[in-house]
Amino acid sequence: MIGITRQLSKYFIFITMFSIIFITIISNVSINLFFSNYIKESRSRDDLKIVQYVEQVYSNNNGLNSQSLMNIMHYAYSEAVIVQLRNSQNKIVWSSGTPETMHNIMGGNDSNDNSLAFRSYPFNYKDSKIGTIDVGRPKSIISSIEDKQFLRTINIVFAAAFLFSVIIAILSSSRISKKFLEPIYLIKENAKLIKNEKYKELNEVRTNTYELHDLSVSVKELAEKLEYQAALRKRMTSDIAHELRTPLATIQSHIEAFMDGVWEPNSEKLTIIHDEIFRLTKLIKDLSDLSNVESDEIKLKKSEINLSALMNNIAESFEPLFISKSINFKKEIQSNVKLSGDADRLNQVFTNILSNAYKYTNENGIVRVGLKQLKDVIRVTVEDTGIGIPKEDIKHVFERFYRSDLSRNRGTGGTGIGLTITKAYIEAHDGRIRIESEEGNGTKVIIDFMR
Ligand SMILES: Nc1ncnc2c1ncn2[C@@H]1O[C@H](COP(=O)(O)OP(=O)(O)OP(=O)(O)O)[C@@H](O)[C@H]1O
Ligand SMILES: [Mg+2]
Repeated sequence: MIGITRQLSKYFIFITMFSIIFITIISNVSINLFFSNYIKESRSRDDLKIVQYVEQVYSNNNGLNSQSLMNIMHYAYSEAVIVQLRNSQNKIVWSSGTPETMHNIMGGNDSNDNSLAFRSYPFNYKDSKIGTIDVGRPKSIISSIEDKQFLRTINIVFAAAFLFSVIIAILSSSRISKKFLEPIYLIKENAKLIKNEKYKELNEVRTNTYELHDLSVSVKELAEKLEYQAALRKRMTSDIAHELRTPLATIQSHIEAFMDGVWEPNSEKLTIIHDEIFRLTKLIKDLSDLSNVESDEIKLKKSEINLSALMNNIAESFEPLFISKSINFKKEIQSNVKLSGDADRLNQVFTNILSNAYKYTNENGIVRVGLKQLKDVIRVTVEDTGIGIPKEDIKHVFERFYRSDLSRNRGTGGTGIGLTITKAYIEAHDGRIRIESEEGNGTKVIIDFMR
């Protein structure tokens, strides 16, 4: 493994080096190719000027005399070329100089190649060819002193640029990677803090890079979620401990009283023990249901069920409880509403919701249970005039182990599992559950099953 700084520097330097080498090669090739073409073309243009000059001199003097030849020689000198005239038999009749002359014209230095390259042009006079004009220049123009120097200068400039760029790449790559890495290091540090459950100590990550910003926000959200879960877990542990301790303490005290002969084990006392054991069994069942709905897909044993009959049965079983608390229990259950579903699970759903209504409604309150077949849905409602749910808690009540402080303070018992299981079972039936509630005024639970 290798650090990001080194990795980035490597890429940076490599890309810089590659670019410069690439540009150098491209420049050399294009200079050799296009520049020499350009020179060839401009040479042709220059040659033509010389030919026109010679023809002009010839035409002005009606031939060539020593004066006009001298003029041509001077012109050839000034243009740094050798002009050679041939007659119609192709014999050289006059030349403005020799290759050595040329060598001298060029300044006598460096050029190793003394030989000339001649180009021939027809020598016309009054529209007919009277001979040939040869224009000679050093063979390789590119290799003439200036051109060689030109390429060399360009390559030196590229080499300098190469060195300069590599130095800049080395310096800037470490700066740039540091700029990029700073937030990454902070995020890494935050991940470590999260691992150690130090959620409050997370670093503020400042960056103007979208991706890093998103990453840091995601990590922060993850931390908030984990912190929230950790708090829930702590609460849950104490709630479960409480839920276990209360019935166990009752059972223990009763049995000790029997053993000491303080109480006779009569049916009233045994019913109390039985109810406490029932509470324990329910808690264990809830916990095991929760682990089931959270671990794998819920398998429903579906059959055609008469929802009206099922709801009437559950309502009936709750009636004594409501009477004992002087709660006015109203049923508005439409008859013969049928649904394909799992009777046991639906039973558990409505029992959970009614037991909440019972638990969280004060004496002399009202609980209304309804079943209605609407156009698109079968709607079950359970409405109470109980303690209600604070606004900020409503969105959380379906989370496992979540209990609003209102219900915790009342000491009604419960672990905050009921609605989690309820929601999972309803959704397994393709249904939806929602809760409308106002603190102090009551709660309405609405369940819709698709028809
Ligand atoms: N009818 C209601 N009136 C007021 N608060 C309610 C009502 N139903 C649910 N709640 C709130 O939602 C929370 C979660 O309900 P849920 O049924 O999941 O848990 P619980 O009743 O506390 O425990 P249990 O796991 O025994 O059901 C409750 O603790 C309570 O704060
Ligand atoms: Mg409940």
